Amino acid sequence: MRSLLNRFRPRKLSPGNINGNGVRKLDAKEGPPKNADESAAIVEELNQTFDVSLAQMKNISEQLKKEMQKGLNQEGATVAMLPTFVSGRPTGEEKGRYLALDLGGTFLRVCEVDLCGNKEFKIQQKKYKVPLTLKEGDFRDLCDFIAECLDNFIAELNATGSILSSSLSSDANVATAAGSSSNNSTHDISSGSSNNGVEPSPIEKYQLGFTFSFPLFQTDINRGVLKQWTKGYSCTNSVHEDVVEMLQDAFLRKQVPVNIAAIVNDAVGTLMALAYSVPETALGVILGTGTNACYYEKIKDIKKWDGGETLNDEMVVNTEWGAFDCERLVLPLTVHDRKVDRESLRPRQQMFEKMISGMYLGEISRNVILHLIDRQIIFDGYSSNDFNKQHSFDTAYMSSIELDNSPDLQETRHILEDVLSIPSTSLMDRQLVKSVCEIVGRRAARLSACGIAAVLKQSNLVTSGCTIGIDGSLFEHYPCFEANMMQALKDMFGPYISYKVKFSLARDGSGLGAAIVAMLAHKNSQKAASSGAPTATSSSVSPSVAEEKEQTQPITDDEEKKTPKEESNIEASEFDDKQQDIKITNGNGKIPNQEDNKEQPDHKDKEQDIQKE
Ligand code: BGC
Repeated sequence: MRSLLNRFRPRKLSPGNINGNGVRKLDAKEGPPKNADESAAIVEELNQTFDVSLAQMKNISEQLKKEMQKGLNQEGATVAMLPTFVSGRPTGEEKGRYLALDLGGTFLRVCEVDLCGNKEFKIQQKKYKVPLTLKEGDFRDLCDFIAECLDNFIAELNATGSILSSSLSSDANVATAAGSSSNNSTHDISSGSSNNGVEPSPIEKYQLGFTFSFPLFQTDINRGVLKQWTKGYSCTNSVHEDVVEMLQDAFLRKQVPVNIAAIVNDAVGTLMALAYSVPETALGVILGTGTNACYYEKIKDIKKWDGGETLNDEMVVNTEWGAFDCERLVLPLTVHDRKVDRESLRPRQQMFEKMISGMYLGEISRNVILHLIDRQIIFDGYSSNDFNKQHSFDTAYMSSIELDNSPDLQETRHILEDVLSIPSTSLMDRQLVKSVCEIVGRRAARLSACGIAAVLKQSNLVTSGCTIGIDGSLFEHYPCFEANMMQALKDMFGPYISYKVKFSLARDGSGLGAAIVAMLAHKNSQKAASSGAPTATSSSVSPSVAEEKEQTQPITDDEEKKTPKEESNIEASEFDDKQQDIKITNGNGKIPNQEDNKEQPDHKDKEQDIQKE
């Protein structure tokens, strides 16, 4: 009885008001702020709640580095550190025409990539929105959808006379994929065999690199077992399955004459893509719907590697840093983060990602704003049905609100009142909402910098410096994200770091990167085939794939002639199909990281982009 009573006895509280983050709260009052000082006190309270101090940043990056070590040493670590079977570096001289698929958080992109050498390339691509039902349904249905989109794309390019018409003659002098775990053979692509004088067989014209932006335990350059879904996906019949085999089977079912030559994580694709034109690129980072990074690691330091001999002494490792600290040892979680995590599809997973990426930032901010509403601080204490819905406050809105510098914050008013149906907002409300967005966004940038710091340290690049290829809408569109990240790196390493480490946008780079890796893998398998040696890549092709090769019909001479090379970069029209609602974007030449190469979506498109990608 006594112990029961004890449970309810008031505890002695430490002096002051301590929030869940262990940070002392300022005495911000409940109820609407009556003046600028009271409003400032609320902002200061939020700042403290979401602060990541220098000491915390150092601690986080040290801990991540330790976790990366664990992942390199053994399977099953929280930070998985997945060997990618991609080693060596592109030279920019690779040539050939390949297909690429990029299954990301929101869109499926299908690309035809023409590697022209001399660091130049051309891309024709088309984006398809992946319907929610497919993200949650049977993976085979998703594979069928992908096969259909690809088939459409090929048909459309065929109609314009563009598809894969070039010879595959290649002066590749490029990267090396690694040894296979299945037969300990090595993949030598470094010498890039040329097809000189030999007419390529039809199947050679339909080689594809598949960018798959989820944690994949790879067993070869074109083999990989899904560890788990992340972001909004939860397809059935897929975890622990070989996703390449399943997609290849869908191609067979739909008679799409394409061979998956390589499977590549988006971070890896981004790294390869930028490295094609900027050789000093050493890291690939994604800051979009999800987050991740990859880098070159010495094979001897990947202690768990049992894939046999490799011709290069380094391999790209996919860190899967999004999973970092699910043990909650160092990340400065607030009550809002815990709530977002609890209500997410996979609680207690992807903790780092949940504090950084576009999929969650809006939701964290929504929870902070709801808390302010419940304390009667803003909106006269009223929310709306729309705003009460989970994920209703897109990260894209945060971005627009941060950009809103109008005197009365009109855009912010529009989003809150017109889009999200908040009954009425005062200027002070809107200013507070803007502060919430800035504070949550800034924390995400600082945490991202902790991740980058850990990888830089792990790969000994802090002093020598490097270029980091980054893709994802947070980096591309979110105001101040890049500046905040760089500032955090300066806080950690000193101001000189900004001369050593360069961020470079590799917009939609993963398609290009996947095509480069597909080329490398394909060259390797051709070379092995011509020498009669079985390689893992060719020997592990499933019977269904082999059958498909048999069935492939050659493109006729006539068709070949109808295919003028200069048309390879033409603008194709939109598909009519409702699911295929995004127009083709043509890339050309260098990695489109300059303003003039950026698409300038209108406001609505941009909102959607930022939220989802
Ligand atoms: C996935 C990574 C991916 C990242 C960015 C994460 O959720 O686990 O594989 O690279 O998102 O798309």
